[in-house]
Amino acid sequence: MDPNRLKGKNILITGAAQGMGATNAEHFAAQGANVCLADLDLDKAQEVADRVNDRAGGKAIAVRTDVTQRADNAAAVKATVDAFGTINVALFNAGLNKPRFFMDIDEDNWDLIMNVNTRGMWLGMQETAKQMIAQGKQDFPYKLICVGSIASRKPLVDVTVYCTSKYGCLALTHCAALGLAEHNITVNGYAPGVVKTPLWEQLDKDLVDIGFKEKEGQAFDDIVDNELVIKRVSTPDDVKGTAAFLASPDSDYMTGQMIHIDGGWCIQ
Ligand SMILES: NC(=O)c1ccc[n+]([C@@H]2O[C@H](COP(=O)([O-])OP(=O)(O)OC[C@H]3O[C@@H](n4cnc5c(N)ncnc54)[C@H](O)[C@@H]3O)[C@@H](O)[C@H]2O)c1
Repeated sequence: MDPNRLKGKNILITGAAQGMGATNAEHFAAQGANVCLADLDLDKAQEVADRVNDRAGGKAIAVRTDVTQRADNAAAVKATVDAFGTINVALFNAGLNKPRFFMDIDEDNWDLIMNVNTRGMWLGMQETAKQMIAQGKQDFPYKLICVGSIASRKPLVDVTVYCTSKYGCLALTHCAALGLAEHNITVNGYAPGVVKTPLWEQLDKDLVDIGFKEKEGQAFDDIVDNELVIKRVSTPDDVKGTAAFLASPDSDYMTGQMIHIDGGWCIQ
């Protein structure tokens, strides 16, 4: 790993207290980036930041952030700039899921998922772009990175609202790439398939609760057997390389793209 690949990048990461956000934060810092870990769970985000600061590489701070609130997104951007001087890259990773069959969706389920996954992403992108525009043009592009999902492109019967929210993340990636190009800001994203994280542990239980699966663990097995080309589920380590690529100068000539890292699920 090149310890200088992300040197000079100051990166805001939402939802960085656990799962893929935490792994990406550690991976970015190991390549020289300074990282601001923004999460609802400040204690856990601080633990990740402490781990980063104990090692060689970039520095980390943690800030309590609810991405559904504009003021919290603005505060997370400000915390990044106060700590590191500027913000060059932001990774909008905070997200959640709560499965429901179509006729069981209610307003609470809709609002919970749409507010975090889509509204939270939009607010974070806007507040970050505001700061980037104020900083003025730099030699390399500013970068916004959106976390989508297999559910950004594939309809899934048990998670209609999650699909709606993640199709929305794909739309935000496309539209913001057009809207922010004049400010030298690129917008790209990546779309995992099934990743072993705390989100999936909860989802696995919820899928039994709504009667979609008979027992815990079955969802993983069924996806591997029936959906994936690469016959295993992934871990955050399978995703971090693509995230780092999108944060690095290697992706400077890309915008409006969402890369699938889903073991081939999207071509099944
Ligand atoms: N795990 C998967 O299989 C999978 C697959 C495709 C896409 N994704 C997406 O990847 C991203 C990360 O998922 P993960 O599996 O690592 O999840 P995770 O549950 O392990 O971590 C998500 C983090 O987001 C934080 N968060 C939730 N609501 C928040 C809010 N309102 N404000 C700030 N932070 C908030 C949580 O506290 C948590 O630390 C999500 O956007 C998810 O939808 C996950």
